[in-house]
Amino acid sequence: MENDILEKEAAIIDALREEISGNYGNDRGCMIPILQRVQNALSYLPRDAIAMVAAHLGVPVSEVYGVATFYNQFRFNPPGRYPVKVCMGTACHVKGGDIILENFERRLEIKEGETTPDREFSIERVACVGCCALAPVALIGDEVHGHMAPSKVEGLFSRIQIQKEIEERKKNESGN
Ligand code: FES
Repeated sequence: MENDILEKEAAIIDALREEISGNYGNDRGCMIPILQRVQNALSYLPRDAIAMVAAHLGVPVSEVYGVATFYNQFRFNPPGRYPVKVCMGTACHVKGGDIILENFERRLEIKEGETTPDREFSIERVACVGCCALAPVALIGDEVHGHMAPSKVEGLFSRIQIQKEIEERKKNESGN
């Protein structure tokens, strides 16, 4: 599974290499548009893609990293298929958002900003998502889960598991 993902990613980087050498100049001013294009295609900036951009521009990899990390539009970890976002706005923080975050981290065995090796889940902290009355709030994908409590975390994963099984079954049925 992990290898499949990496192979797919390598193929996308190869295609991007061609596209970028045909469509973008190689002066430093092109770096941001190129990084944006790469992130659009891959949803993040993997190490090999950064190296590809550096080679195209003829600059050290560290320079591309330096520029990319300056802007918070770029991410360096792949988003999970189910991205978990825990609100750390004031209302959620006051109501124990950090405890909710810790519970997700413990359950998934990753830290905030990371992605599980199978790329099913990622965790990030976000600023106020605009539903403070439901604090503390977490999102899985676009779905908002209000009045979060540590005891609710496991329930959310059970729901996702059921949802995945239903999707899997539908996929198998349509394949028959
Ligand atoms: S602070 Fe979390 S929704 Fe506003």
